[in-house]
Amino acid sequence: MKSIIKILFGLFIIIQIQSCGDKKVRTTENFNNCWKFILDSTINAQNIDFDDSQWRTLNLPHDWSIEGEFSEKNPATPGGGALPGGIGWYRKSFEISKSDSGKCIFIEFDGIYRNSEVWINGNYLGKRPYGYISFRYDLTPFIKFDKTNVIAVKVDNSKQPNSRWYSGSGIYRNVRIVKTNPVYIGHWGTFIKTPEINESTANVNIQTKIVNATNNKQNISLISSVYNCKGKKVGKTVKDTIISPNSSLDLNQNITISKPELWDIDNPVLYKLISQIKINNQIYDDYETKFGIRYFNFDSLKGFSLNGKSIKINGVCNHHDLGCLGAAINKRAIERQLQILKEMGCNAIRTSHNPPAPELLDLCDIMGFIVMDEAFDMWNKKKTMYDYAADFAEWGKTDLSDMILRDRNHPCVIIWSIGNEILEQWDTSGTRIAKELVNCIKQLDNTRPVTSACNDPGPWNNIIKSESLDLIGYNYKHQIFKDFTKTYPNKKFIATETVSGLATRGKYDMPSDSIRRWPIRWDLPFTTGNSDYTCSSYDNCSAPWGSTHEETWREIKKYDFLSGQFIWTGFDYLGEPTPYSWPARSSYFGIVDLAGFPKDVYYMYQSEWTNKPVLHVFPHWNWKTGDTIDVWAYTNASEVELFLNGSSLGTKNKTNEQFHLAWRVPFTPGTIKAIARNNGREILTQIINTAGNPYKINLTADRNKIKADGYDLSFVTVDIVDKDGNIVPYADNLINFEISGNGFIAGVDNGCQTSHEPFKANYRKAFNGKCLVVLQSNGKAGKIVLTAKADNLKENTIEIVAK
Ligand code: GAL
Repeated sequence: MKSIIKILFGLFIIIQIQSCGDKKVRTTENFNNCWKFILDSTINAQNIDFDDSQWRTLNLPHDWSIEGEFSEKNPATPGGGALPGGIGWYRKSFEISKSDSGKCIFIEFDGIYRNSEVWINGNYLGKRPYGYISFRYDLTPFIKFDKTNVIAVKVDNSKQPNSRWYSGSGIYRNVRIVKTNPVYIGHWGTFIKTPEINESTANVNIQTKIVNATNNKQNISLISSVYNCKGKKVGKTVKDTIISPNSSLDLNQNITISKPELWDIDNPVLYKLISQIKINNQIYDDYETKFGIRYFNFDSLKGFSLNGKSIKINGVCNHHDLGCLGAAINKRAIERQLQILKEMGCNAIRTSHNPPAPELLDLCDIMGFIVMDEAFDMWNKKKTMYDYAADFAEWGKTDLSDMILRDRNHPCVIIWSIGNEILEQWDTSGTRIAKELVNCIKQLDNTRPVTSACNDPGPWNNIIKSESLDLIGYNYKHQIFKDFTKTYPNKKFIATETVSGLATRGKYDMPSDSIRRWPIRWDLPFTTGNSDYTCSSYDNCSAPWGSTHEETWREIKKYDFLSGQFIWTGFDYLGEPTPYSWPARSSYFGIVDLAGFPKDVYYMYQSEWTNKPVLHVFPHWNWKTGDTIDVWAYTNASEVELFLNGSSLGTKNKTNEQFHLAWRVPFTPGTIKAIARNNGREILTQIINTAGNPYKINLTADRNKIKADGYDLSFVTVDIVDKDGNIVPYADNLINFEISGNGFIAGVDNGCQTSHEPFKANYRKAFNGKCLVVLQSNGKAGKIVLTAKADNLKENTIEIVAK
């Protein structure tokens, strides 16, 4: 009897939960799958009955440029990645059930590059020129219930160049359908501030925008509840009010939280606000906002501090593309980039030069990165022929406001940037526009400093002259960092962009000790050492406006008032192969190459920015007998002893101002061995052998288990090794890939800036011994099996499990 009662009670609970679930008042549906697509500039495909049956079917996010062929003739030019643009159309048919009539229905686009125009059932919803901005449309008046509806999107990226740098083309970020009751929390409708924080309490201030889309006034209650990271409710407040018909209202509430756990880069604790609207005791909307509790300060003498602790901002600039995946956003691909940077000790990202995908900020919140969120690369004065300058006057403030509204609850966002190297620095209009943009930000968020990444560091700069910047930010000019407190007494500084060092992974020029900067005259040919279109991996080559990595870091490290820097760049990106042009088509500036393989200087930063023991010795040991080779070590040990074939080449001591150790070694084949010691105690050893001929392919996945969700990725590194397992440093074998099971090849790459092989392919040549295959789940659980083959090499197979 007892057990029957137990079962009945259990059933009762399940029914209760299910009926709560059924009452879900707001739904957010992934709207990425099964779109129709065509690249065609000659059609008008907005009408509901347009025949798209012959179009390709695909899932978003999608970047059609990355699927194309490299050509010097593509209008993007090598500066934009030399891939095709054009005009594309997307259409998606869908049904909405009659049970949703009475609801408000929205479509949310995280980003479409560019000039998107959207129709539903032939009705025009609007246009958004800026390709990097998120927006939504209200579909409610146009929905046909229980019938087919069609969304049509026209994307015009035909006029190029229009972006620095590679933009991608298409609906390259996520799309959602949101359904709410007609009284709901508005788009990006909450703003959470934490104006008072001490050890025992934090005051959480909440602004909530409530929309009443009905023709009646409504008596509502707004219930705001805060949950900690363990899901425990730690605060609640309720406000009752009346909202007029067809209007919106901003409500203000406060909650005090005791013993707040602070968001930090080492311990990025998040809280969750659940906002509920109740009418007649029925829940009408519930809306979730993640936030963090933290405080920070920029001090004109002491630099940056987070939660009272001084921290150098050791940041990188990143452009938005994801290498061989192009601009098509993939959360795991961003996460991998951030993991690689975190391992290096990097703690900050600048979203140069545009608002990022929202997933980047979600990940920076979770992983503990500081973000400088940048709005624009130009205002009214254009930098490339067809860029956003033509739209800025009409759209600038709307786009800026939308970025702030979307991003202002992220604890990771610490600095807003109103623009990069804006040409109005040299025009009096710069003063007015800077004031207007800063004013626009301050009305929406007065908790974060605003900067602009200036390339003219002088007080005469029209943007700096506006006196509206909270942080003086300038790009490069490390030589004058030391004078900052004299030039700008009592002002706060951030090095918005630094370095621009050039390197190709696995490439070394001898000797390594003369620093080369390419000539400022563009018509002069630029070569490093003995070859064109590659740059040495010794930190000895940079843009004339930049510095080597070591030069800028030396300054930043020295002065407390320098709150930190954003190095150009963390990862190589498509486009801007400066100082080269065709056949080069991607950048040389990254600390990590386009495929995600660290270049050597990565370990210089790791040795300086982390506490873990680091020893990284390079180059490889395959040279001609008689060559004189510079051997460098990046380390944080106090000394390193180097051996060649068992004989010591001497011990070098490391000082605080010295960022690498070097030996000049006459080459003989064999083994280089380095031993790093602290106070005579061995802490790390590295061995480099002269590699023999390519013999075998090795495959190593970053993750052998992935989610079977249709998005998750496994990044498989392909190494060409000799009989003894040494990577063959010059190997450039063509590798063919065969794949079976529940996945597909999302992209291939090798980090070579001049390769014209397609990124979407089942083959890739190795470059300096390596290449990369990116495997993607196809949405079904099961095995994914990848086999890599090449002429005259032993093949290899790897198995990934998608669950
Ligand atoms: C900067 C610019 C970046 C990039 C970089 C290369 O001046 O802001 O977009 O071009 O130079 O060094």
